[in-house]
Amino acid sequence: MSKKIVIANWKMNPATVKETEKLFIGVNKFVSKIKKTEVVVCPPFIYLERMKKLSKKIILGGQDAFYGDIGAFTGEVSGEMLYNLGVRYVILGHSERRALGEDNVLINKKVKDVLNIGLTPILCVGENNRDDNYEYFNLIKMQVTECLKGVNKNSFSKIIIAYEPIWSISSTINRRDATANDSSEMAIYIRKVLSDISTPEIANKTRIIYGGSVNERDAGEFLQNGGVDGVLVGKASLSVEKFIKIIQVAEKA
Ligand code: PGA
Repeated sequence: MSKKIVIANWKMNPATVKETEKLFIGVNKFVSKIKKTEVVVCPPFIYLERMKKLSKKIILGGQDAFYGDIGAFTGEVSGEMLYNLGVRYVILGHSERRALGEDNVLINKKVKDVLNIGLTPILCVGENNRDDNYEYFNLIKMQVTECLKGVNKNSFSKIIIAYEPIWSISSTINRRDATANDSSEMAIYIRKVLSDISTPEIANKTRIIYGGSVNERDAGEFLQNGGVDGVLVGKASLSVEKFIKIIQVAEKA
């Protein structure tokens, strides 16, 4: 049984420090007792410092990072700044950022930069829709290869790829559920793409996780039959009760 990873993507929530502490402390109480599962929480940047003081066990992640250490980039936060704060993971290329204009070229710069710093990138890939001609496989291939272009193959073991089909994300209008089979099929395909640009041994070391409306009821199914090493949880991670249940499931998976 390999160690699973459960990652919370809080997105632009909660609205106040008070609510943030309540949520984080609630999760931390439980996480301090768990043994096998790696738990990462990615809050908005402004809460990271406070949260670092509140838990030694929960690993902190950023929801994005700009390349470079310091400089004239208004509004951006660098990977270096996050690392110096004690952050160790960073979500890159999330579909909600891609929708705001981020492309594979920019994401690739960020991936290379955060790897240099020592942060683990959680590289998000995922298609908007599934077409009958299976074109979406090519899109995923393009996202993976372009975002990892020029990345040292020895770093592949330090990368997490999150497969998040946009059609299954909780905020997508007319969303539908993805199945463990959808996840497992894509995990195999992503590993094949990684293997083609490196070696099968190297590709096996990259962790692949699933995200898209994961909740306390279906997390077990994704973790057991979805061919993945963990889950990236959005909406359900904003409830202490639901998020704890997902971690419990991961402990048993
Ligand atoms: P969701 O979000 O669990 O609310 O669908 C997942 C994500 O977008 O990372």
